[in-house]
Amino acid sequence: MLKKPFVAANWKMHKNPQEATEFFNDFLSKISIEQMENFAFFPPTIDLSVTSEKLKKTRIYWGAQNIYTETQGAFTGETSAEVVKSLGANMCLVGHSERRSLFGEDDDQVSKKVNLIQQLDMTPMICIGESLVQRKSGKTFDVVEVQLIKALKDLDSKKEFIIAYEPVWAIGTGQVATPEMAEEVHLFIREKLSGLFGKAITEKTLILYGGSVKPENAAELYKQKNIDGFLVGGASLKVDAFLQIYRALF
Ligand code: 13P
Repeated sequence: MLKKPFVAANWKMHKNPQEATEFFNDFLSKISIEQMENFAFFPPTIDLSVTSEKLKKTRIYWGAQNIYTETQGAFTGETSAEVVKSLGANMCLVGHSERRSLFGEDDDQVSKKVNLIQQLDMTPMICIGESLVQRKSGKTFDVVEVQLIKALKDLDSKKEFIIAYEPVWAIGTGQVATPEMAEEVHLFIREKLSGLFGKAITEKTLILYGGSVKPENAAELYKQKNIDGFLVGGASLKVDAFLQIYRALF
């Protein structure tokens, strides 16, 4: 079962296999076996083999930042979820705002990917969040609701899944949402999940916050009732900064 606090690293397009290996060697020397279940890593696809070597036998969750909707075929440049699974991965990121805005991923694709990840017995970490324009025009809750409902259209709610709320305006900008701003959206997501799947499932579903999370702001955010952990970009690239985020939560 997934545990709180849950702290996930999205390395985006950073680190080569050598750098990934060095990171994991250092990271693994600094955490206990019990703490491993609190972490997930999403390295670039090219680093998944070394990630498998380093993490496969640990309790750490890991997987791809993105997979394709089909498992094999003539899809040049895409990554098969089946191949990711064959390396031993147990979790995949899906619907990240950079995938949506830079690569045109739509809600329909997100829903198909969620479904495929679950079929392969991996846990989807589903990213949703509003842009600055959407927030400024008062559409935050509408956007989040539509993304959530569409992403979960074919979800198997008997299997685990994670929601990551990442306001687009907070990603990589240094402009973190205030704890109150984040909490009101997290509470909204929790209530929507409850309406869709009932209370029991909702209570054990992790809702993570992402967007400029740093060692300095993590503790205040985590004090909020509905923030179960974080999806971290920039600050996950250095072992010590990433661990400081985790340690700030106790
Ligand atoms: P930053 O932590 O760099 O803002 O990135 C957040 C993110 O997009 C994680 O998926």
